[in-house]
Amino acid sequence: MPTEKRVAYVTGGSRGIGEAIVHALAADGCHVVAVARNKEKLDALAKAVGEKGGSIEVATLDIADSAALTASIEQTIEKHGRLDILVNNAGITRDGLFMRMDDKDFDDVMNTNLRSAFVACRAAARIMIRAKWGRIINISSVSGLIGNAGQVNYAASKAGVIGMTKSIARELAGKQVTANCVAPGFITTDMTDVLPQMVKDKVLELIPLRRFGNVNDIAAAVAFLASEKSSYITGQVLAVDGGMTM
Ligand code: NAI
Repeated sequence: MPTEKRVAYVTGGSRGIGEAIVHALAADGCHVVAVARNKEKLDALAKAVGEKGGSIEVATLDIADSAALTASIEQTIEKHGRLDILVNNAGITRDGLFMRMDDKDFDDVMNTNLRSAFVACRAAARIMIRAKWGRIINISSVSGLIGNAGQVNYAASKAGVIGMTKSIARELAGKQVTANCVAPGFITTDMTDVLPQMVKDKVLELIPLRRFGNVNDIAAAVAFLASEKSSYITGQVLAVDGGMTM
């Protein structure tokens, strides 16, 4: 018997934006499968969601390993008989000026941020098509929309995510499976905490709403795109960026 709740698979759920997405989807009544690299953080997340009455399972996984990612999604589908929502959130940066960037830093970012999203979408789509319902939400970035000095690899991967998502949206629309991107602006997380204060001050000047985003700003947008309420929205990029890219 398929699980009754909607099943949501979230990559990089152990911290930051992914953690907030997991909480939001669990609060909306989904059974959430959260995968990431850090077992301790995942276990803490499972405990926190469970304490709030949410339904969750967690697993450690390197999403850059295509075979392991495919197997993990297939196991989820086999176990629950369904996979309704896929959120490709996990991502990395390997910043540096492009003239000095080596192939490894380029490939690592492309494989983690773009190829993994492709692999996960491919593995999840079959059951969504069969169910004639599905929500694919890929986390892009404002860097993928407007570029960013020092992030040629990251911006390419995030722009790639947008092109890929629109193409998937076109291929799956006839089956009522939607695919959209959320493009966060500057969100306060471990990924951005490492940036020098000078950079943060400069970025703030570019944000019309005059504040950095928080993880719940992103989670709310993802929860909306994962819900029934977004059924007429596909192939879109929702920038959640305080107006930075308007
Ligand atoms: P974070 O660095 O705090 O968390 C990233 C998550 O991805 C972690 O759970 C980590 O375990 C997981 N992850 C990374 N590589 C993985 C791998 N190979 N296998 C499995 N899990 C892996 O990052 P943050 O800030 O929460 O970002 C989440 C997403 O939002 C990323 O795709 C990032 O590019 C995007 N984003 C973040 C922005 C920000 O300002 N924080 C701005 C724009 C986009």
